Amino acid sequence: MAIPSEFIDELVARSDIVDVVSDYVSLSPKGGSYWGLCPFHGEKTASFHVLPDRQLYHCFGCGKGGGVVSFVMELENLPYPDALRMLAKRAGMEFPEGNLDDSGRRRRARLLALNKEAARYFHSQLHAPAGREGLEYLRGRGLSKGIMTRFGLGFAPESWDSLTKAMTAKGFTKGELLEAGLAVSGKKGGVYDRFRNRVMFPIIDLRGEVIGFGGRVLGDGTPKYLNSPDTPVFNKSRNLFALNLAKTTKLGRIVLTEGYMDTISLYQAGFDCAVASLGTSLTADHAKLLSRFTKEVVICYDADNAGVQAANRAIPMLEKTGLKVRVLRVSGAKDPDEFLRKYGPDAFARLLDQSENHVEYSLGQLQNKYDLKDLDQKVAFAKEASELLAKLNSPVEQEIYAGQIAELTGIGKDALLRETRQSRNQRMRTARKKESRKAMTPVMQVQPKARDMRYENPRAARAEEGILRLLMLDSSLWKEVQGLEPGQFTSPHLGRIYEVLRRRLLEGQPLQVGMLEGELSREEVELLTRLMAEPESLENGKKAMADYRAILEGAQWKDLREDSDLLAVRDRLLQKKTI
Ligand code: UTP
Ligand code: MN
Repeated sequence: MAIPSEFIDELVARSDIVDVVSDYVSLSPKGGSYWGLCPFHGEKTASFHVLPDRQLYHCFGCGKGGGVVSFVMELENLPYPDALRMLAKRAGMEFPEGNLDDSGRRRRARLLALNKEAARYFHSQLHAPAGREGLEYLRGRGLSKGIMTRFGLGFAPESWDSLTKAMTAKGFTKGELLEAGLAVSGKKGGVYDRFRNRVMFPIIDLRGEVIGFGGRVLGDGTPKYLNSPDTPVFNKSRNLFALNLAKTTKLGRIVLTEGYMDTISLYQAGFDCAVASLGTSLTADHAKLLSRFTKEVVICYDADNAGVQAANRAIPMLEKTGLKVRVLRVSGAKDPDEFLRKYGPDAFARLLDQSENHVEYSLGQLQNKYDLKDLDQKVAFAKEASELLAKLNSPVEQEIYAGQIAELTGIGKDALLRETRQSRNQRMRTARKKESRKAMTPVMQVQPKARDMRYENPRAARAEEGILRLLMLDSSLWKEVQGLEPGQFTSPHLGRIYEVLRRRLLEGQPLQVGMLEGELSREEVELLTRLMAEPESLENGKKAMADYRAILEGAQWKDLREDSDLLAVRDRLLQKKTI
């Protein structure tokens, strides 16, 4: 059963798009609309705007667009009904749960309930006789009882079926255990526990749900960490360990580590701002996620070569989202966990304060690459370093770092700055070329043409777009297109949208993008928003509507002339027209 459309309409009417978007994006008003940095792609100048009168958002840069519901769907990565639920909660409206065929949601809810029970079970085992070794292991790594509880750490006993038994006793099925990645199917059709004889780290999402686990062997076995596979509730490239805690830190930045233990040790030492990527390298989704909760990320990876490489990959990814990036290198220890154990929290706090911004870090990296005693290598270093400086926007910063490089190499600062300027001009030229190509595409001039290529009959499609735009802006113009059938549209997508609009108009329902998003495909929503974001004057709405209609019907005549049953069809059309 569907969610009642009256409910959706009221919910959308009560969820002002500017309010909702402002929960995630900082918007500034400009000429009747609101502009901000697009949350869907990395950018430094705003091409994302929200139009309050049309209740839509649209990005000229990446083309994403829609109403309030699809905004929440896209940003929170939620299916349609869950986005409505979230908006309902926000608007203080009760969601009509009874009406819904929500088997997908129920299934997810079951898996989350199972994960939560499993976490409880593992935690209880840690303090039971079966978990003695696990508890000793964690104590041996310096963790207090309080921190174990805070992170909900647990123990999976050395047994093939202890979790499976405990969970089936609570009414969960073997199928659910398999789907949650807690059990694995055996050769003879049975199932057995995935995690055995391991200390368990539950992974908790932003809403406080247990979505998966990491389990560490007690000794030196392999794999060192076994993680939940991706499941309907767990996706490791979109979640970060401990972000549920770090998101409320008052420390003003988030420290990004590689490991569960690094993050937990940092917490115990008072740095409640640590997160870890879950055994994968940092993804663009991770970066975007972090940028929602902080302005500055301090990368604090392992001291080994792999850690350095991973940091180098993470820097541009994080920067792209507008985050300020610093890099903290631990020395004298292999990772932050070991560093804290060896040198204590104060030493770490000092490192954190001195953590290099990524320029210093990258310069350090470059320096390691070259032998500065060799003349050729020194020149190559200076060149590459100047390129790095060219990326900085502040002349003061350039000046400072040029000074440092001059000192290192004995090359004059002015020469370095000249080199930097050249390299910067080169970069600007390339960027400008790219920019001007881009600038022409998204805005009015080129885009319609490029877009029209997708239509079989561009002229008619423009008229069809005009009809839809006018209807959305002023539904009283509906009278002017009465009798026009969706089948008369030359573009199937535009025809589909028209069909939905017409049905609502016939039933006297209001028209707003947010209200249509359950009935249109993502592609259709984006098409509709894009055409709505184009300017249209309503002054001569009636006349414009009549013109669009004439073009559309003219296009039909043209088509029909090529039709073999020409006369018969034309007669039918003529009759229709005169009614
Ligand atoms: P590390 O090997 O650096 O682990 O891997 P660690 O956190 O320092 O662990 P300890 O201190 O030896 O216990 C970093 C992260 O990579 C993932 C885990 O998320 C781990 O925290 N990893 C590592 C795996 O997923 N599987 C593995 O087998 C090893
Ligand atoms: Mn480590």
